[in-house]
Amino acid sequence: MALSLTPLTPGFVAEASGLDISRPLDEVSVRAIEKAMDDYAVLVFRDQPLDQDQQIRFAKYFGPLDLGLRKVKGGAHRFDYAELADISNVTADGAVAGREHAKIVGNIANQLWHSDSSFQRPRAKYSMLSAVVVPGHGGETEFADLRAAYDHLPADMKATIRDLKAVHYALHSRFLLGDTDYTEAQRQAIPAVQWPLVQTDPRSGRKILFVGIHACEVVGMTVAEGRMLLLDLLEHATQREFVYRHHWRVGDLVMWDNTATLHRGRRFDFGQRRELRRATTEEVQTSIEAAA
Ligand SMILES: [Fe+2]
Repeated sequence: MALSLTPLTPGFVAEASGLDISRPLDEVSVRAIEKAMDDYAVLVFRDQPLDQDQQIRFAKYFGPLDLGLRKVKGGAHRFDYAELADISNVTADGAVAGREHAKIVGNIANQLWHSDSSFQRPRAKYSMLSAVVVPGHGGETEFADLRAAYDHLPADMKATIRDLKAVHYALHSRFLLGDTDYTEAQRQAIPAVQWPLVQTDPRSGRKILFVGIHACEVVGMTVAEGRMLLLDLLEHATQREFVYRHHWRVGDLVMWDNTATLHRGRRFDFGQRRELRRATTEEVQTSIEAAA
């Protein structure tokens, strides 16, 4: 069987079929998925429930795996692999977390538009999110196309931001939500990084407007001016015309390119169980990184 693609939105999201991703993949299939990720930026695999071992194996085809925020707060973990992120409202002992539980802050932070691990170097490349339990209502994930967002910027804004860099910091979104209970060591665990606001994807050649909630300042601007510019750009990038909303079914695996998209979870009843499991690859060194 070979990879088959059915566009869900033109040039951005495609449903991928024809491959059983729970089984080992050959080189041709892996390269086909990477090519599809360049042509689109989000792939939806339906009816492909993966166990932890299968998800780790699939993710490793695409690069070294990322640990993300677990570098700040380790803590109890439900999974066999530290590289699997527990995107759920469930505690380490398997119970639905109460509204006051620290886990819920993470759920809410995920509802802000972001690129996974843009606050570190190397940043994240592909995230692969597997749906284990989904709530009856809400809890969708939305994706915004940062290539289309760049293409549709007015010419004067393209000129304004052409050489600008943004500062991305891991805890900025947490601080925004009033989650400030971190030690100095935790605050320093992932030092802030800078990324150009405008990037050219080395594989697809397309320009990207690289913004998101982890971006908190613009180099060379006051905090206020930079933050306002970032909010304006984020508002532009997340207009409905650039956004796809994914309605989860158990067994879905959605794969996206964090260097070309933003995403956010949508509201759901925190009293209902929502369990997704994420594996994420690190971006290999690129000309963008070398320039940053
Ligand atoms: Fe995320």
